[in-house]
Formats: sequence, C-alpha cells, structure tokens
Amino acid sequence: MTEPRLSRRGQTAPASPIRRLAPLADAARARGLVVHHLNIGQPDIATPIGMLERYRAYDERVIAYAPSDGYRAYRDKLAAHYTALAAEGGGAPIAADEIVVTVGGSEALLFAIAATCDAGDDILVCEPFYTNYAGFSHMLEVGVRAVTTLASEGFAIDPDRVKQAIGPRTRALVLPSPGNPTGVVLTRAELEALGAICREHGLFFVCDEVYREFVYDLPEGARAPSILGLSDFDAHGVVIDSVSKRYSACGARIGCLVTRNRAVRDAALRFGQARLSPATVDQYAAMAALDTPPSYFHEVVREYRSRRDVLVAELRAIGIDCRTPAGAFYLVLPLPVDDAERFCRFLLEEFALEGETVMLAPAAGFYATPGLGKNEARVAYVLDVERLRRSVHILGAALEAYRAKSGGPVR
Ligand SMILES: Cc1ncc(COP(=O)(O)O)c(C=O)c1O
Repeated sequence: MTEPRLSRRGQTAPASPIRRLAPLADAARARGLVVHHLNIGQPDIATPIGMLERYRAYDERVIAYAPSDGYRAYRDKLAAHYTALAAEGGGAPIAADEIVVTVGGSEALLFAIAATCDAGDDILVCEPFYTNYAGFSHMLEVGVRAVTTLASEGFAIDPDRVKQAIGPRTRALVLPSPGNPTGVVLTRAELEALGAICREHGLFFVCDEVYREFVYDLPEGARAPSILGLSDFDAHGVVIDSVSKRYSACGARIGCLVTRNRAVRDAALRFGQARLSPATVDQYAAMAALDTPPSYFHEVVREYRSRRDVLVAELRAIGIDCRTPAGAFYLVLPLPVDDAERFCRFLLEEFALEGETVMLAPAAGFYATPGLGKNEARVAYVLDVERLRRSVHILGAALEAYRAKSGGPVR
C-alpha cells in the first residue's frame, strides 16, 4: 500500500494566528478557568431583531439552492444600498448585476484574489494586515508583498511607500478600511491617492470595507469612505463586504463582492457557479437586515467607542501606551515582553488570576516580514466594558507574573 501524499500547499498552509492557540484555551477551560476572548472579532452585540425574525419566519417546505450570484431581490436591495454609499463620494449608481453574493466576505476575498491574480503573481498589502489575505493567497499560490506601517506613525499608509513596493507581478492592492488589526480609517484623499497609483500601474484595488460603519471619530451616522465613490475607477475597484460585523451576524456567512469591472464580476460569478450557491435562508435574513434602522448603528457605534476608550485608558493605566484606533474594533497592543507568542501561551497555560485569564492573538502572524510583530498582540474589543476592564487587570497581573518568572524586568 502506498500512502497518499498531502499537497505541498496543504502542508504549508499557515494556521490563523487568531485561532492557532484555541486548543490551549480549550485546555484552560477544561481546567476550570474562565477565558476572556480578546483574540477573535466575534462581537457580543445583539443581531438586529428584524434579521432574527426573518430567520424565525422561514417556512418553506424545502431549503433550495439560491442562484450562484445570490437572489435577484437581495441584489436589487443591495444595489440601492451601494448606490447611496457611492453617492456619498460622488460615485455613479451600482446595478444589481455588479454584485455577487458570497459565503461571507471571506469568499468574496478568495474570489477577488482568484479573479485578479494568477499563480506566481502577488498582492500588495500593508502590514500588519488581516492575516487571511495571506491564507487565501497561499491557497491560490499568489505571493504577498507587504508595505510595513509603524505603530509610531499610527500605522498610517504612505502612498509613496505603496508605490515603491509594487513589483513586476503585483496585480492588486488589498487593503481593509477601517483596518483590521490597525483600526486605521482611510480618508477620501488617501483612497484617491491609492486609486491614482492603481490607475497608473494597472492594479486592481480590492478594498475590504466590512467595518465601514465602525468609525468613532466621525459625526454620528457617518461611514468610512468607500472606493465606490471614486470616479474613473470602474476597471480597478473591487469592494469586499459582509453582514458579519455590520449586523453582528458572523454566523450568517453572507457577504458580497461589488465591482463595476464586468470581467471580474463574470469571473466571480463563474467561481460562484462551481460552489453552486450562497446560503438560502441567510440571504433572506440579510435582506431583512438592510432595513435595520439607523438608531441600531448609532447605539452600536457608541458602545464600541466607549469600549475603545475604556480599553485604551485601562491599558495606559498599566503602563501600555498605544494609540487610539479610529475604526473597526481591534488594537495592536505593544507588549513589554521578549516574545508575544510565548506570553500568549503563558496566559493560557500557566497563568490565572482568581480563576480567569485572557486570550490574545500574537501579532507576528499579521506581518509578512519575518521578525516583525514579535512584541505585539492583537486585541479585539468585542467584550463589554466591565469585561474589558477585568481583562486588562488580568493582563497587568500576568505581565508581572511573566516578569517574575523570567527573572527581571520584562524588557
Ligand atoms: C478585514 C476583514 N475582512 C474580511 C473578514 C471576513 O469576514 P466574514 O467572512 O465573516 O464576512 C473579516 C473577518 O474578521 C475581516 O476582519
């Protein structure tokens, strides 16, 4: 008998730094500990009632396949939504056939990278970046080139550095705004500058806008600027979107890809035909979610803003000075330790304060450049203010214990 061999791609697929330490958290829970999960962007905010009611109201006899690009009625409603968004920046309307409904924003990312890059090409990202951009690129044998952004500069993206980093096989710039893990919200002027680079170099701009509503320093009801508002950008722009964060509905697994580039849209549709259909019932729920009143978002944004402010203040109180992120619900935490991965493991394997510990995501996996992020972790502020306070208190005690264990100052 000859053993079948796992593909090289399968052997070398990176584990997500967000989930990699999950078995240690499971073991900690099995030992009776309470683990505060700051590692993963799973919001605890209630899903809009209209969306939940639509799930409960589903009473068809069969749960059938949906069309590969999603229900027409859903895409019509999405088109109106994106037309209003594009208009905020002076952009032209979006039509239903410029949208492909996908299995979460994740599948939209996979389709976007697959439609814009061949094996051996590369995408350009700004590190620290959403780690699954590398995961999907790996599956497609696409490389990742990274422009390093710095904590000391608030992780600001410098268009000149982006331009310099373009390689001979770079096909697409892939950026989230608001950013995960940095919280950076790109201004319209920054989108324009990056858009101009994409025009000049014939690149796609895959803009991941799944956190669009999560902006904390803009007037109530404002959204992060979208590339759908850029003019003369139809050939270049590909927007990634999702219901996961907007409606606190990560398990619904509905997202979409929006592009005026007909060829990209058609390729995404054909990829979609291979996996037959996005989820049926969840699309009905996502359609109902589009009727969520603005008051829901006002409340959610207020809640996250206060979480962010409490988190930053509590961290400063234990001597960790980090910049206040402008959007999404993540923060890159500078840790006064030799190795953040080791410290994250210590939190789960060796440490507890009154039966509790915290789980963080080591940040090295959010960088493409080896060695970077070694002293950083990502925090998702998806817990209520009291649990955040408690978590930072635990973190402070853990840093003390880690220092005592390492025998001297932490750094
Ligand atoms: C920046 C970013 N893009 C895309 C996604 C994909 O989310 P989903 O597949 O749940 O829509 C996430 C999830 O955390 C994210 O943070």
